[in-house]
Amino acid sequence: MRYSVKTGSPEKISADCIVIAIWNKGALSDEAKKIDAVTGKTISKILQSGDFTGKLGEAQLIHNPSKISAKRVLLVGAGEKKNLDAKAAAKLLSSALKVIRASQAGSVHFALNSLALNNRDSNWFAARISQEAETASYQYDTTKSKKAKAYATKSISIGALAGGRRKNLEAALKRGQAIGKAVNRARELGNLPGNICTPSYLAQQATALADRNRSISTQVLSEKQMTRLGMGSLLSVGHGSAEESKLIVMRYKGAKVDSKPYAIVGKGITFDTGGISLKPGAGMDEMKFDMCGAASVVATMGAVAELKLPINVVGIVAAAENMPSDRATKPGDIVTSMSGKTIEILNTDAEGRLVLCDALTYVEKFKPRSVIDIATLTGAAVATFGSHVNALLSNNDNLASALIDCGEEVLDRAWQLPLWDEYQSLLNSNFADIANIGGPRAGTITAACFLSRFTEKQKWAHLDIAGSAWHSGAQKGATGRPVSLLVEYLSRQKA
Ligand code: BES
Ligand code: MN
Ligand code: ZN
Repeated sequence: MRYSVKTGSPEKISADCIVIAIWNKGALSDEAKKIDAVTGKTISKILQSGDFTGKLGEAQLIHNPSKISAKRVLLVGAGEKKNLDAKAAAKLLSSALKVIRASQAGSVHFALNSLALNNRDSNWFAARISQEAETASYQYDTTKSKKAKAYATKSISIGALAGGRRKNLEAALKRGQAIGKAVNRARELGNLPGNICTPSYLAQQATALADRNRSISTQVLSEKQMTRLGMGSLLSVGHGSAEESKLIVMRYKGAKVDSKPYAIVGKGITFDTGGISLKPGAGMDEMKFDMCGAASVVATMGAVAELKLPINVVGIVAAAENMPSDRATKPGDIVTSMSGKTIEILNTDAEGRLVLCDALTYVEKFKPRSVIDIATLTGAAVATFGSHVNALLSNNDNLASALIDCGEEVLDRAWQLPLWDEYQSLLNSNFADIANIGGPRAGTITAACFLSRFTEKQKWAHLDIAGSAWHSGAQKGATGRPVSLLVEYLSRQKA
């Protein structure tokens, strides 16, 4: 998709479709007024008919309007002027893009100059337009024999949004596009089935990313190499699987070699059967999404390179398949992690923390300024928050509030849970240094407590994305969260 800023009066913009806003109760935006005037009150007539009221998210296409350069006009409801905030703007855009998607419009112009958002500037709005346009163009068809109809829209332009400078708007469009593409990449990796997206496949994708970007280098550690490093915990998870586990290390260099990096670490369980602590059958297919943390890391690394952020970033993926077999880890087995701590595996279904703890120990060698792990870690996070929130736990309040701010900014929100010492004793074991489960209560917190034992020396935050990473039901599919949150956080950092 191509993006540009096009100035000029809306009636003179040539495009297959021009998007204009109508406020609540049929009040015309400035752009709508201009089009209405030249087209012999076409819009006023529609509003008088009552078919369109300007409610937020309404969208109606007008074909072959007379006397303007565009071939179609798309009316979108902008709701109450005073309520037009970031969330409302995102809703307006996604409903407009749904209609655009269904049309065959090859070029689309968003004439929304007069829409000032009450809590964001025009650069934010511009970036959101390109981000939403990219994500709206994604459709999964990789494993369907009949491919989806190609997305017709090839170019998108925006007007000079309220108070925006051309240069800044263009940069914002680029930025939003990069983020949207990264979100789609994470969705695609998430959506691929477990028999395609294996640990080796993730490693290939991370290697391909380095081939495409000179600023990224990827190293893949084999089981043999991990054995030498003493990663007994990570290795125990893939022990029952025919697929080899991989530790994928991606390094992005955007600053001087000696500039300490920021680290992101993803859970990459390419399928989670639960292992010997086998999961029930219903809905188990959704455990192909148990690598969405890893997908967000790979995709974020790509975006960071595309945006040429002036920092260094290390992205680590701990990839394994959790299967039952004669070789699989059994409840009660004790393994030694890379940190030297021994772990009693009381439940083989609490495997995410087992792969992450060794990856978190490994990442120490880069002396990162901050470490964020991203994991579909607990069903308890889904029970607590449903699908709207990235659960956040951290040993550093500054890092936690920075992440909450970033999530708010890009509408990929996180909410913090307590990581208090009182919960730590739930992980006591009679036979090892620590048990891998903390019992039936406070599951998201005890999982984070487990990880905290391996991050004591680091400024660390944990995002449990079990609820936010994919949708179930008719819309089943990966969301690409929290890529935009991670990109926002990294964009705000300095070398
Ligand atoms: N991948 C799951 C977490 C999960 C479950 C995410 C359902 C989304 C939906 C994780 O590996 C897991 O199985 N966690 C267990 C931990 C328990 C055994 C302590 C869980 O949450 O039930
Ligand atoms: Mn599990
Ligand atoms: Zn899992």
